[in-house]
Amino acid sequence: MNSIAAAHAPDVKIPLAHILTGAVAALFGGLLLLWQGPALLRHPLGDFRTLALTHLFTLGWLAMTITGATYQLVPVVLEVRLHSERLARAGYPVLAIGVALMVAGFWAARLTLLIPGALLAAVALLVYAGHMAVTALPSPAHRMHRLFFLGATAYLTLVCILGGLMVAEFRWGFLHVDLLPAHVIAAILGWATLLAMGAAYKLTPMFALSHGHGEGAGTAVFALGASGTLLLLVGAVLGWPASATALIGLPLLGAVVLFLRDQWLFFRSRYKPRLDVGLRLVVVACGYLGLTALLGWADLAGLLRLPPAALVILAVLGWCGCLVGGQTYKIVPFLVWFHRYASQAGREKVPLLREMYDERVAGVGMWGLAAAGLLLSAGTGAGIPWLLRLGALAWLGGYGALAYNLLQVLRA
Ligand code: HEM
Repeated sequence: MNSIAAAHAPDVKIPLAHILTGAVAALFGGLLLLWQGPALLRHPLGDFRTLALTHLFTLGWLAMTITGATYQLVPVVLEVRLHSERLARAGYPVLAIGVALMVAGFWAARLTLLIPGALLAAVALLVYAGHMAVTALPSPAHRMHRLFFLGATAYLTLVCILGGLMVAEFRWGFLHVDLLPAHVIAAILGWATLLAMGAAYKLTPMFALSHGHGEGAGTAVFALGASGTLLLLVGAVLGWPASATALIGLPLLGAVVLFLRDQWLFFRSRYKPRLDVGLRLVVVACGYLGLTALLGWADLAGLLRLPPAALVILAVLGWCGCLVGGQTYKIVPFLVWFHRYASQAGREKVPLLREMYDERVAGVGMWGLAAAGLLLSAGTGAGIPWLLRLGALAWLGGYGALAYNLLQVLRA
């Protein structure tokens, strides 16, 4: 029980504020997708409104949620105190305001909103990255988890720098190279995927109570994932041909295969026979990761021609969406329980974690999250408006159930 909420953890309000704001952004993004998605299909990539929606999801929901979750998990996993709780607290409004301005600026195509918004969001994330690196570096614990975390943080720094340069390019037009592929690769593979894999190496065995399979091939997964991402990024900037990119995609494919094998072994050696909603979503997330990796590699090798937006959706809303959703179902009840009831446990009756939220609502919502990535990706890829709307509804159902349950947990 103590494992993710115990000693070293910061004030509970810091992770909760980020995670709840992320849930609001996820719902707002789903509504926007339902309302405007079909119109955006006509300009699937590069359109300012599409960019607004993309960053509402990637910054407003994903980065906000991950930032909050890591403020909680990193001190506990790496057995260190946050370098400065005050910095973490101050970063929250800067990131929230920055993302809101940035999304509004993209949506209205107004550089007067976009530039200050991007500046605030980038500064908030760069300070967060530096803060977390300073926190993690002296940690005596878990070399493998530290590698994933520091590697992902380095990629986040690159994402912000490239994103900032591209925003400046809109205004001053000084770049002579297309940085977009490098930005997207660094964001989705280097930052989000490496971080999600590192978290899964810690959290899956912890939540599934699996003791039979050590850390597996984690260090190799990190080495293959981080170097494969870098090669792909360089290849995209230099415009290497399909035969070369297919070859440099192999380390990434290898990282995914080893990671999925380790997750499977964690689940196989678990002591907890029944999988709750959180763990079932982790299994679905692994399915999404495998599918995205296969399709992505086939696309790189020229065997398939997939619209980039379809792959981005599978990775962000499918793989990250299910993993983040599943782990939110596990982390937030732990946090709130520990904060409210740890001192009373053993002396008086306190609720069980699963009694803090409505498992039936969570079970139905799970199907929404599980289906959303596929429906949205297929709807965007094939240009079918009703499929896109169905996907938006599924996402809203999944995240709506999660948001409802977060409120139940806060009230418990
Ligand atoms: C402060 C941080 C960020 C800034 C300033 C930023 C800025 C930008 C800009 C200016 C573009 C458009 C470039 C162009 O079309 O020429 C872009 C595209 C994109 N960014 Fe970001 N970004 C940031 C963070 C992120 C993160 C964290 C992710 C993902 C996890 C992300 C994912 C994407 C994607 C997928 C696109 C392509 C979308 C499309 O073309 O419709 N960005 N970003």
